[in-house]
Amino acid sequence: MSYLKRKENMGRRIHVHRVPAAIVIILLTVIIVYFVNFHQDERPTLYSMLRNQNKVNLRKLLIGAIQAAQRGGMEVLEVTKTLELKERSKGKTDEGANDPFTDADGRSHCVMKEGLHRIFPQIKIFSEEDKESCSNVNTFDLDPTVLHETADLPNELADINDVTVWIDPLDATQEFTEKLYQYVTTMVCVAVKGKPIIGVIHSPFIGQTAWAWVDNSMSEYLASIHPVSPDTSKPLITVSRSHAGSVKDLVRNVFGEKSEILTAAGAGYKVLQVISNNATAYLHSTKIKKWDICAGDAILSALGGTMTNLKGELIDYGPDGSPVNDQGLLATLKSHDEYINKLIQSRKSAAPVHR
Ligand SMILES: *[C@@H]1O[C@H](CO)[C@@H](O)[C@H](O)[C@H]1NC(C)=O
Repeated sequence: MSYLKRKENMGRRIHVHRVPAAIVIILLTVIIVYFVNFHQDERPTLYSMLRNQNKVNLRKLLIGAIQAAQRGGMEVLEVTKTLELKERSKGKTDEGANDPFTDADGRSHCVMKEGLHRIFPQIKIFSEEDKESCSNVNTFDLDPTVLHETADLPNELADINDVTVWIDPLDATQEFTEKLYQYVTTMVCVAVKGKPIIGVIHSPFIGQTAWAWVDNSMSEYLASIHPVSPDTSKPLITVSRSHAGSVKDLVRNVFGEKSEILTAAGAGYKVLQVISNNATAYLHSTKIKKWDICAGDAILSALGGTMTNLKGELIDYGPDGSPVNDQGLLATLKSHDEYINKLIQSRKSAAPVHR
């Protein structure tokens, strides 16, 4: 065989194999692109959709939680407006009219819970007003503009079965009826495996939203009220104005005559007092519901603070326990152990009295 002929043969052989080789290369490219793509959560491929059907994107849940708290707040404001209108035109519709205050709780609950439920249908949501029945509720679509522009948040996924959401559609209802509106908040909290990681405390009458996502980011308002180096040299304890008597005695006994007390209302508002260093601790000696405290717990964690019961134990926000925390509450930004030890010591020394 001449050199030329051999070359011709080789050329033919290569020519014959070129088509299957091209097909293999194209297939490989498709497979590689496919597998690289499914890591990018925003671009759902069939594979990622199947893989993530039991997951929830926590960034989206944060956006929904902020919107729910703000929408609930709008309902509360609207009820207040109609109430004031009613009062101005006295005696018009007293008979058979709804109680405007329970109206506010109910309307806020429906907008918050139904709104979140429509977007995240598989997530367990607990609300203070779960007995309410809702109809004709205005729902909402996720709107990322509720985050500030500099908030750079990851598309972190969590197992849907690990997530619980706690809603308080109107905290400080008593004060709301007394028109002490500064205490009123609407709250949403997200817990993963019982641990609070996203907290939203919205103050509708102040028009501000404090939110935080542990290890990620916080709202500009929250950053603005949180001092860089809080002064905790003197105990200044915030307690509930509704049952302040016994807890005031407790504060004096435990922290001494020099300690100061700030009476306030609403668990959300009181946590904000601790966060802003208007108080060094928030103390509650009786039962308290988990939707009252979960959002504050998450925000405190995000700021390096601590919330525990009066035994110094963390509170579990998982789906299985009771919604009531019956072991009291202590929330601080700093020196939590010191406060808890004093409380535990005083209980020990007080114990013989009850023998
Ligand atoms: C802290 O106290 C000051 C003075 O009373 C008040 O103006 C401010 O609103 C309080 N901060 C918060 C977060 O409520």
